[in-house]
Amino acid sequence: MKRVFSGVQPSGLLTIGNYLGAIRNFTTLQHEAECYFCVVDLHALTVPQDPEELRRNTLNTARLFVACGVDPTVATIFVQSHVPEHTTFSWLLECTAYYGELRRMTQFKDKAAKQEVVTAGLFTYPALMAADILLYQTDEVPVGEDQRQHLELTRDLATRLNSRFGPLVKVPEAYIPPRTAGGRIMSLQDPTEKMSKSSQDSRSYVALLDPPDVIRKKIRSAVTDSGREVRYDPEEKPAISNLMVIYSLVSGESLDTIAERYGGSGYGKFKNDLAERVVELVTPIQRRFQELSEPGAIEAILEAGYSKAQPVAAATLQAVQAAFGLVPRGQIRGE
Ligand code: AMP
Ligand code: TRP
Repeated sequence: MKRVFSGVQPSGLLTIGNYLGAIRNFTTLQHEAECYFCVVDLHALTVPQDPEELRRNTLNTARLFVACGVDPTVATIFVQSHVPEHTTFSWLLECTAYYGELRRMTQFKDKAAKQEVVTAGLFTYPALMAADILLYQTDEVPVGEDQRQHLELTRDLATRLNSRFGPLVKVPEAYIPPRTAGGRIMSLQDPTEKMSKSSQDSRSYVALLDPPDVIRKKIRSAVTDSGREVRYDPEEKPAISNLMVIYSLVSGESLDTIAERYGGSGYGKFKNDLAERVVELVTPIQRRFQELSEPGAIEAILEAGYSKAQPVAAATLQAVQAAFGLVPRGQIRGE
């Protein structure tokens, strides 16, 4: 059976961009493949975190996976830091990746430009991401378009390891939806920027846990383009096109159907209806999220996830360590 791995950082909230670009696809892939979905808490540490908040966000991100429809009896949901093989392998990949390769990463350049101080971890972040993926002999990685470059690097590192040592790890494929299928949902305030949970302006995104009235307000105040025609045209009408993609994905209707219905009726009605569609999407997610608030419920899911993930990771790591020439512990004693 095909293996799928993906990770989401526990950096606060999840947006409808995270949902439409990635998590929605987790829920379909879980029925076709053996799936590992990881809350990548160690990646979150590459920028400053409040410890108490990180703890809460890690558990809530896992709760949101389940609330969005990831079934913990089918897919493996776990926390990255619980499986120490990730960091051990990451070091070996840091010693495989080139400085120049990491320096070219656009996410590093963007994030570094926004930080007062840049940690070494922010720089080596893609090696840890490659470790996450390669440990599980992954075939496919469902992510948004912003992760394409990291996936390319992961593939390069996998190929490098295999050509140096013989077949050790699977070379994974990216599973990135086209833009009209959610691969890159844009900010509600600036259609040239991707929708991001780390944005300072909370009006630029809809969070999955935003109350209905907040969602209505955010969508009504989303920027639009000149003119009043609702038409899919990413060049001329980037803001409306983004809203149309969101509408299409949450309603299941095609862009053509939407253009036909709202083409001449102006932006107001279109935005009001879109807000209601988005509220309909998040309402059951929010209900399930609340149902998982029972103490210990999500912790039990994560513990079961650890038990399934760790042996898989350990098997790959053992083979990789041997290939690098690291001496296994037992043999020293047996000399
Ligand atoms: P992150 O929150 O950065 O850990 O992202 C989690 C997942 O959501 C990754 O697969 C991202 O590529 C995806 N993602 C984040 N923002 C967007 C967006 N605006 N549009 C589509 N996918 C996104
Ligand atoms: N870098 C990804 C992001 O910011 C998160 C991530 C970490 C990830 N490890 C991963 C995604 C492994 C897919 C597979 O969205």
